[in-house]
Amino acid sequence: MVSVTDQSVSRTSLWGGRFAGGPAEALARLSVSVQFDWRLAPYDLAASRAHARVLAYAGLLDAEELGQMLAALDDLEAACASGSFRPTVEDEDVHTALERGLLERLGTLGGKLRAGRSRNDQVATDLRLYLRDHARGVAARLVELADALVEQAAQHVSTPAPGMTHVQHAQPVSFGHWLLAHVQPLLRDLDRLRDWDKRTAISPLGAGALAGSSLPLDPVVVAKELGFTTSAANSMDAVADRDFAAEFLFVTALAGVHLSRLGEEVVMWTSQEFGWVELDDAFATGSSIMPQKKNADIAELARGKSGRLIGGLVTVLTMLKGLPLTYDRDMQEDKEPVFDAVDTLELLLPALAGMISTMTVRADRLAAAAPVGFTLATEVADWLVRKHVPFRDAHEITGKLVSLCEARDCALDELSDDDLQKVSPLLTPEVRQVLTVESALASRTTPGSTGPGPVADQLASVQDKLETWREWTAQRVVPR
Ligand code: ARG
Repeated sequence: MVSVTDQSVSRTSLWGGRFAGGPAEALARLSVSVQFDWRLAPYDLAASRAHARVLAYAGLLDAEELGQMLAALDDLEAACASGSFRPTVEDEDVHTALERGLLERLGTLGGKLRAGRSRNDQVATDLRLYLRDHARGVAARLVELADALVEQAAQHVSTPAPGMTHVQHAQPVSFGHWLLAHVQPLLRDLDRLRDWDKRTAISPLGAGALAGSSLPLDPVVVAKELGFTTSAANSMDAVADRDFAAEFLFVTALAGVHLSRLGEEVVMWTSQEFGWVELDDAFATGSSIMPQKKNADIAELARGKSGRLIGGLVTVLTMLKGLPLTYDRDMQEDKEPVFDAVDTLELLLPALAGMISTMTVRADRLAAAAPVGFTLATEVADWLVRKHVPFRDAHEITGKLVSLCEARDCALDELSDDDLQKVSPLLTPEVRQVLTVESALASRTTPGSTGPGPVADQLASVQDKLETWREWTAQRVVPR
């Protein structure tokens, strides 16, 4: 949020003509959005440059006026960037502030730019430009986190771990496979962002307040100048539509949920009970009273911040659901949730990436835990199936084996040949071959499974996919 300067500047409201007096203080305070929409300024200025050019194509600005207009917009942009031009308490929103800046530079010529456009099509355009630009930044941070997970996964393709369902030891898996299971959702988040971007690349400019313009301004030309694919098909929809904000918030909320699930696992892995992972000192926190403590606060904040990301989506959907067409002032409430989603992810993702890339994985402890809890029981059942025992019976026999182990407080491979025979004559000593974690993992050779071969293939394919993202994430949508 910007702080607004209180230097007194003559009031440059965009709408006072028909009103007898100025707005009540309480209205002005409720109505003002410049403290949060000021970050749209570079996008509003870009849209203004494109609009000035179409005014000139339409003969509504002569060449000299266009030159002065563009120079003033450039000067204003530089002043905004340096901070020498700031919004004041008198400016209702970013559009008001920037028109004041233009009038200060151009006098009456500055008043010509508003022809054929309205804040309704402007604000929808600015927000689309802002989000298209920042979606690429968020995507870049997602790729960095995925890179960090992939780097760790590459070290642990053959590190066994006790894979879980219901937080109970289930079957041995490769810890690399486990880490890559957190990369796959991030790849889907990236896909969703790029797919969202296609639908968002439609320019509302030219819709005016809601009905289009009587002036001969070509919306497709403006759209192309601003990096959009084309202009909106319906001027009413152009100013009423906030699908792009809601959909962006869905993508960021779901990404938040993915980060939260990763965070939750890191919290567990770093606990005394698991002891699978140790965080680097730079990415852990201490306690003000307990000198021994080392806490996974980044992982907890990942879990905690998913709440505000989900909340943003709910805010915007709820705000939109009863709105009659076209623009309603309720829609001013679309901005803070999307800005907060961008800020939250830009803050969180680098911290998570740093935490993951610097953590130490205790492969010895993972390997020791992998067979605990009879995680090889399914191997016995599958071995019986290969001996043509129906799985139903194989499951039963193996269950008996487990219950014998529980009674004896021993592991499956600690039973004697005699014990095996007593449970079932089908259980010949040969079954011992499948009673190792290594053989369990090595037997998983189908695509997508947790054996060393398929995990190596998955790793290579994920690395290839991440490479293809670098170009898109490097694009900038700040048109000049
Ligand atoms: N600050 C407003 C918003 O964010 C800009 C559009 C205002 N339009 C209007 N007709 N009052 O939605």
